[in-house]
Amino acid sequence: MLSLIVPTYNERENVRVLYRRTVEALDGEDFEIVFVDDSHDDTPDEIRRLAAEDSRVRLLHRMERGLATAVIDGFRIARGDMLAVIDGDLQHPPEILANLLRVQRETRADLVVPSRYIAGGDPGGLSWPRRVLSLGGRALAHILLRESRATTDPMSGCFIVSRAAAVPILNTRPKGFKILLELMVRGNVQRTVDVPYAFAARDAGQSKLGWKTQADYLRQLLDLVTVNPDNTRFFLFALIGGTGVAVNAALFALMTSGYFDLVPYGALLASLIASHVALLWNFIWNTSITWRDRFRADQIWRHAFRYLVVAEFGALLTALVLLMLRGIGVEFNLLDQLVGILAGVLFTYRLNDRWTFLQHAPALQTERTMRR
Ligand code: GDD
Ligand code: MN
Repeated sequence: MLSLIVPTYNERENVRVLYRRTVEALDGEDFEIVFVDDSHDDTPDEIRRLAAEDSRVRLLHRMERGLATAVIDGFRIARGDMLAVIDGDLQHPPEILANLLRVQRETRADLVVPSRYIAGGDPGGLSWPRRVLSLGGRALAHILLRESRATTDPMSGCFIVSRAAAVPILNTRPKGFKILLELMVRGNVQRTVDVPYAFAARDAGQSKLGWKTQADYLRQLLDLVTVNPDNTRFFLFALIGGTGVAVNAALFALMTSGYFDLVPYGALLASLIASHVALLWNFIWNTSITWRDRFRADQIWRHAFRYLVVAEFGALLTALVLLMLRGIGVEFNLLDQLVGILAGVLFTYRLNDRWTFLQHAPALQTERTMRR
């Protein structure tokens, strides 16, 4: 059975239309619709009327706020082995549900996400400022949480997930809005499939997303970053890299400010010195924090040498990306360098993790493996 969870907060004009369109879309399916409502208007009365007409409709009326917890509370009382979530304001057209179900059955995926960002999809219903925020938020999620890369739309408020995959989050109380991210990072999701759809404009009621939601989102990301050690490591690496940039710039400014004219050979030498001091700075913190579990005093020179090699390759990659971007006509001086830096950071992180700070197996174990 499919349990469709619909979180609602002051959606009185939308629930009946949503109900009608959903029932039509799921014609012939075994399903229930669970409204989880935190409204202060008469939305719950409207839902109670629907429930009286159709026993497949249920209402959980809560006295608190929170989109993510509303969805989780819905999951907890749901009877289905498949769980779906859809917004109550019709921005996710209920008609897409039939397609999501079909794709789930065909692919046996335990998570199916309708996406605005693959061919055939459309973020149309988002205003331009919301679109930029959405894309920025998505990029951040993809960079910081590797699990989120399994979908092109990790911010989606609509999806189908198997109960088995959702079990690990049933006892959590996430503060943020993005329940899908919680699922992907903390859940048991093995296989994710995207299906394109067009996000609709809201025509009744108001969005509940404000500036506070953006701040909550960042907090949620930081919280989720600590779940998977690999994500935490990358986050620390990027953070330390950021301090390295500050060290680099400060040193360069100091050495070239005529007042402390420490470098008689001018800007070139100052730049080289600043870069390499920053490199050393980064190495010290990365070896003692980011990869502290792989620290070995007897390996420190080997690690340092490899770290330097990787850093030089990273700088090279940054420059190559810059050249490529210019080649295709992207010529904002800072933007192309920033994209290059991002590529460099991702690349050097991977190489440091897989090569520089490689865990060396104890000698005995290696011998045994070889004899086998
Ligand atoms: N129960 C409950 N409690 N429901 C809530 C609450 C709450 O505190 N806050 C919002 N909702 C309900 C709304 O009534 C609506 O049905 C749904 O959750 C989404 O809220 P909106 O206010 O319409 O959010 P949005 O359209 O700005 O954002 C939606 O789309 C985004 C995609 O860009 C959400 O689904 C986001 O999670 C999604 O990222
Ligand atoms: Mn909405």
